Amino acid sequence: MQRILVTGAAGQIGSELTPALRERYGSTHVVASDLRTPAADSPLSGGPFELLDVRDRTRLQAVVVSHNIDAIYHMAAILSATGEANPQLAWDVNINGLVNVLEVARATGVRRVFCPSSIAVFGPETPRCPAPQLTVLHPSTVYGLTKVTGELLGDYYVQRYGLDVRGLRYPGIISSETPPGGGTTDYAVDIFYQALRTAQYTCFVRPDTVLPMMYMPDCIRATLALMDADASRLTRHCDYNVAGISFSAADLAAEIVRHIPGFACTYEPDFRQAIADSWPQSIDDAPARTDWDWRPSFDLASMTADMIRRLKPRLAA
Ligand code: NAD
Ligand code: SER
Repeated sequence: MQRILVTGAAGQIGSELTPALRERYGSTHVVASDLRTPAADSPLSGGPFELLDVRDRTRLQAVVVSHNIDAIYHMAAILSATGEANPQLAWDVNINGLVNVLEVARATGVRRVFCPSSIAVFGPETPRCPAPQLTVLHPSTVYGLTKVTGELLGDYYVQRYGLDVRGLRYPGIISSETPPGGGTTDYAVDIFYQALRTAQYTCFVRPDTVLPMMYMPDCIRATLALMDADASRLTRHCDYNVAGISFSAADLAAEIVRHIPGFACTYEPDFRQAIADSWPQSIDDAPARTDWDWRPSFDLASMTADMIRRLKPRLAA
């Protein structure tokens, strides 16, 4: 049975990935960790937790050794909008944190590392519809820079040290359990909370802004599928494009109106518009489909219906 460490487990994805891993491998075999202590009723409460700053290599190694960890899901990061507010912090956490994870894995005999990348690796020169798997990677955000570097570094550890490092270029992730942590795609989550609370939302990107997105159940399924995949089938390591749903902000608002007829969305683009404009509208994920049979299961209508079904009772309470 694998013994797993999840870094950044209290975040949007880690807080749903950790319970999914515990369901498969057993609660005591999956150690959650983060900079911040989760609340007692958090989704992380069902198993071991360690306070851990991934920039602290000594502590990271102590946690890995003391729990006899053999796989790391490295979710700790600073996302795009927060990264633009503090580029030095984004570089420090995203690059030095990743180097520590890879070095500790190498030093302790961890067999497999999951290291997420992002659509933020693409930039204004990348074809936008769809962004190919192999293409220009010239991002305009520091977050994107760290993700390109992370992909290359992960691939280097595969080739140089034989460490099994795998990663996906996640689209913007939409979820109902834990709010997102400072990204450009956060409007596609915030809009649901405000629609249900006040029937109004002021969106920080233009209505015609189309971005690749994915609903959390598909994100978790893609992550587990890549980590389960037979290594001999993989033609790539740390940079798999993976597609879910592409829609504009106006498409999303219109879909929400089908459930909340009085909902009104207005648009006041801010600095995040330029980030969104530098990313593609859709992505070509042919290698993921061929190598590990990837298929998304949620479209805009089913994702919207499920988000509202989950959030409505919680926000009403
Ligand atoms: P998030 O911001 O919600 O969570 C990140 C977590 O990392 C937070 O709980 C934070 O406390 C923690 N953290 C920050 N600095 C840390 C440090 N120094 N040491 C330890 N923990 C630290 O992010 P997320 O959305 O869960 O993203 C997880 C991964 O997926 C990241 O690598 C992110 O770049 C990638 N990703 C996310 C999305 C998305 O839409 N959510 C899209 C593409 C890629
Ligand atoms: N959702 C992320 C962000 O907007 C993309 O990596 O930063």
